[in-house]
Amino acid sequence: MAAVAVVLDLLPADPLLLVLSFLNYTDLNSCSCVCRRLHQLCNHDPMWKVQCHKYWLVSEEEKAEKKLSWKEMFCEYFSDLGRYIEHYAEVRTAWEELKAFLEVQCPRMIASLKVGVTEQQLNTTEEKIGFKLPNDYRCSLRIHNGQRLVVPGLMGSMALSSHYRSEDLLDVDTAAGGFQQRRGLKHCFPLTFCIHTGLSQYMALDDVEGRHRCEIFYHCADQMACDPSVVDMFITGASFTEWFTSYVHSVVSGGFPIIREQIFRYVHDKTCVTRTGDIIISVSTSFLPELSSVHPPHYFFSYRIRIEMAKEAMPENACQLDSRYWKITNANGNVEEVQGPGVVGEFPVMRPGNVHEYTSCTTFTTPSGYMEGYYTFHRLSSKKDIFSVPIPRFHMRCPPSRGSAARQENDPNVTKQNEEPRGDGDSHRRTTMFVNVPGPMGRCLPPT
Ligand SMILES: *[C@@H]1O[C@H](CO)[C@@H](O)[C@H](O)[C@H]1NC(C)=O
Ligand SMILES: *[C@@H]1O[C@H](CO)[C@@H](O)[C@H](O)[C@H]1NC(C)=O
Ligand SMILES: *[C@@H]1O[C@H](CO)[C@@H](O)[C@H](O)[C@H]1NC(C)=O
Repeated sequence: MAAVAVVLDLLPADPLLLVLSFLNYTDLNSCSCVCRRLHQLCNHDPMWKVQCHKYWLVSEEEKAEKKLSWKEMFCEYFSDLGRYIEHYAEVRTAWEELKAFLEVQCPRMIASLKVGVTEQQLNTTEEKIGFKLPNDYRCSLRIHNGQRLVVPGLMGSMALSSHYRSEDLLDVDTAAGGFQQRRGLKHCFPLTFCIHTGLSQYMALDDVEGRHRCEIFYHCADQMACDPSVVDMFITGASFTEWFTSYVHSVVSGGFPIIREQIFRYVHDKTCVTRTGDIIISVSTSFLPELSSVHPPHYFFSYRIRIEMAKEAMPENACQLDSRYWKITNANGNVEEVQGPGVVGEFPVMRPGNVHEYTSCTTFTTPSGYMEGYYTFHRLSSKKDIFSVPIPRFHMRCPPSRGSAARQENDPNVTKQNEEPRGDGDSHRRTTMFVNVPGPMGRCLPPT
């Protein structure tokens, strides 16, 4: 040990500082215990600036305001948020990016956010429910305690016919009030809630009933089980961080349309656009868990189509949509064709620069499927001048789903009933009216 110290004493500071700059805060603390020389070098303040930026996102302004050294800043943060050091930067960055986006696009959503909770409050909640919350979720609650129960919800909206959903990110007290003990959702903690549909995304706080701790999902009743408490899951994240950061990334990168200051959860594949002559067609899609079920297989999707006539088109090219044709293919390759007048009962007139957007829906008995087709138009200048415009093929896929542990283990409670799906086929009886019931087995009008 002494020999090392002597050699270190002889070495100039710069190369040693360079070597030390590759270490993390735990190693720096260990090194500083080795000898006086290392102790001095490890406290070199610029080294702690790097650590402060990396783990706590501390800015120069904040440091200047507090009048502390970088090392002191690091220690201050560590004493308050040390248990979150692995998550803090990632979760905080997501929050900051989301807020910067909302400030511009949906300012009233910012007003519904709640300030962070204290460690004490989190500990009290954990005592109340008798379970520990995942550390990354606690970290997020320290930054923002979700939002007030208002519309629009931070976690996105969906509207289709008279069905409307908007998911709030719950504060920890409201969420704890919805903590589940009942069979099927045992030890699940709601992260979100929609006041219109009652829909929540739950986080498992325990490895029971076939779930993994920290997993986030939408639940839906297994309607083929005799036991009504058996539920299936559409899994939306393996951890809070994954769930939250991937959502924020989609929002801030423009992946979801913002309509009337709300985030609509339509996923737009940027390649899903076609231009034919002056008409541009693009499609985005969304899966609706609240109208879907795994048993029987019934997967409900909505799609939003934007029909646009190029601004630079000649005015005499103005045209009107007469009819549409759809070819709908499920994951088993079963094909259905639908032809009919207009789109959702309308016959939009397209003039240069006009945009017509509409939303419709379809269901599959397979977890994924795709649609493609064309619209038929006539020119306003001549009814006989008819032409068709292809609609790009668009794919729909539901999130990964999983049946209950009871079903996986062939529990007679689940499986003794007949295994044939009770629902419609993919398509044949699509004429049933779309019912606005929150819950599984929503029906859909013929695709339009
Ligand atoms: C710091 O780095 C060492 C390896 O050099 C690693 O074993 C340790 O887990 C790291 N600590 C943290 C908190 O990242
Ligand atoms: C919260 O609980 C943890 C143990 O889970 C404990 O270490 C910590 O001191 C508690 N904090 C407060 C403020 O009660
Ligand atoms: C089957 O259902 C009954 C009544 O709901 C319940 O008491 C029993 O525990 C269930 N069996 C299993 C293996 O879950």
